Amino acid sequence: MFIGGNWKLNGDNESLTKLTQALVKGSEKLFDTRVVVFPPAVYLSHIIDTLKNSPIKVGAQNQCEQLEGAFTGEVSAHMLQDIGCDYVLLGHSERRHVYGETNEMINKKMRLAFEKTLLPVLCVGETLQQREAGNAQKVVLQQLQIAFDGLSNDEIANTVIAYEPVWAIGTGEVATPAQAQEMHASIREFLNALISDKARDVDIIYGGSVKPDNAAEIFSQADVDGGLIGGASLKADDFIAICKAAD
Ligand code: PGA
Repeated sequence: MFIGGNWKLNGDNESLTKLTQALVKGSEKLFDTRVVVFPPAVYLSHIIDTLKNSPIKVGAQNQCEQLEGAFTGEVSAHMLQDIGCDYVLLGHSERRHVYGETNEMINKKMRLAFEKTLLPVLCVGETLQQREAGNAQKVVLQQLQIAFDGLSNDEIANTVIAYEPVWAIGTGEVATPAQAQEMHASIREFLNALISDKARDVDIIYGGSVKPDNAAEIFSQADVDGGLIGGASLKADDFIAICKAAD
């Protein structure tokens, strides 16, 4: 199982240090779950340092689709690798819908992440309008198809896929376990066709209003291998409870 905590644009030095210290304590009894937190970029080095002797890993929330040059305000895959980041979140719906990231940009980012040995957590998901029009599956599989373009089978197998229906992110409206399972099964089938046996090992996680009281039921679905947690990852007790539900 894989649990990610996406802190988004929240917290400051003091509150995020406290949160991290509480996570270190709370995660002592976790056995089989990969736990990764995604702090805001300016705090990455500090959080990596704070988690040095803990099993919790650190990822960035985004990365530039270029490696270096005149790209004011951006952070490159090389820089993330350089400071000891293990993971990078790519294609989050807020990047796609607020900042206009396209599937093609996300594909470039995926290639650079692997080039710099970062493990991508690739987010995909449909809007409510796309779901209501009956296009949810088509949209999600197309996002995957383009994001994976030019990657090797091993790279695809090492990607964590986060299915996050846009209508469930930060809204309190969670996909039903059956809706999540249905999409995750389609993603698994798509991976089977692409990388055959290796598809079994890919972590396909669900994101969108996961809380301590709904986590266990979602994670119990056959093709749900964990979760990407936004709001509830900012409270240590809630996040640890969700990690335990996965464990
Ligand atoms: P949420 O966010 O848990 O607050 O819905 C999930 C995400 O954006 O990854």
